[in-house]
Parts: sequence; structure tokens; C-alpha cells
Amino acid sequence: PRSIWLSRHGESMYNLAGKIGGDADLSPRGMRYAEVLPELCRQSGIMPQQGITVWTSTMKRTIQTARHLPYNKLQWKALDELDSGTCDGLTYEEIEEQYPEDFKARDDDKYNYRYRGGESYRDLVIRLEPIIMEMERQENVMVVTHQAVIRCIYAYFMNVPQDRSPWMEIPLHTVIKLTPKAYGTKEERFKANI
Ligand code: F6P
Repeated sequence: PRSIWLSRHGESMYNLAGKIGGDADLSPRGMRYAEVLPELCRQSGIMPQQGITVWTSTMKRTIQTARHLPYNKLQWKALDELDSGTCDGLTYEEIEEQYPEDFKARDDDKYNYRYRGGESYRDLVIRLEPIIMEMERQENVMVVTHQAVIRCIYAYFMNVPQDRSPWMEIPLHTVIKLTPKAYGTKEERFKANI
């Protein structure tokens, strides 16, 4: 690919409440991010005449974030957030209270810890393999998805070992542009002023 643009969805109502997972709508601030995203993309050098497709997950918050982008869009189930199983909809404090052993196990080995009835980062990396292969075939692609998913995609293109992906710093309201070069991948970040 020439360049890859990555963005988390805008702040969601669940982000505001500190809850994980779910399928919440964007918060008012998240909606502001969706509104400024087309301009942020232009600033980051997206040239629509070169062709660009926007991929989202099937969750409302990524679809709402991409809503104002004037490019072709495609939804992928494989881009949905890490499945947190029985912990879906809880805050980290509630998980610590209700599943203390799980909370500790995840802290001890975040990459391999699999939520009850859900996934681990290791599972997610496997789920993302076909997506990443398809990204490799694209000219230009923008992916609007979720924190854990972006961490794994980012680690892949930045050549970071996947077991470090759970700790990658991927802030909200920021477009990350990755450009593969002969010597490695060039990274630029564009933060929305909202
Ligand atoms: O809090 C937002 C979120 O995307 C959750 O839905 C998800 O479980 C979590 O981040 C992933 O981050 P971590 O693996 O650090 O808990």
C-alpha cells in the first residue's frame, strides 16, 4: 500500500461511562470528531483522486465516525472490537469486583488472557490476519475501528512483536498515517482540535 490511515472511532457513550465493549452511539464529542474527520484527512494528505476506501467495523460507533467521509465505505465484522464475553458492558472496576481472578490473570498476561466467552489479543491477531492481507493489497485505505484492533494492525505495520500490541498507545480523536518505506514504516499522527 502507499499509505494506511488508522483511526479509532470518536468517543462513545460507553467510553464516557468507562464501560468496555457494547455497541453504543457516539457521544456529542465523538460526533464532533466525525464532523472534523474529513478536514483532518485532507490535512493528512488523503488524495481522493488516487482512490481511497474507508473500512469500518459493523459497530455503530465506527460507522457513525466515518459518516461524513466522502469516500467509498466497507463494513467488516472482522474489524469489530475484541470480544470481552461476559465482561461486555462492565467497567474495569466492576470486572475487578465481579471477576477478581480474571482481572489479575489479564494483568499478568494481557496478550494471552481470553475473556470468558470472549477473545484474547492472540485470538484477535488471528482474526485480523485476512484483513491485514487484504490491506496489503490495497493502494490506499483508511480503517476506522477500535482500540484493541488498531493496536494489532499498528504493531503489524510498525514491525512490533504482536505480544506488545496490548500496550500500544492509540489515543482517541487522532488519525495515524503509516507509509511503508524501503527502510521501515513512516508514521505521522494528526490530532483533532476538538
Ligand atoms: O474502552 C474501550 C475499549 O475499546 C473496550 O471496548 C475494549 O475492551 C478495550 O478498549 C480494549 O483495551 P484493553 O485491552 O486495554 O482493555
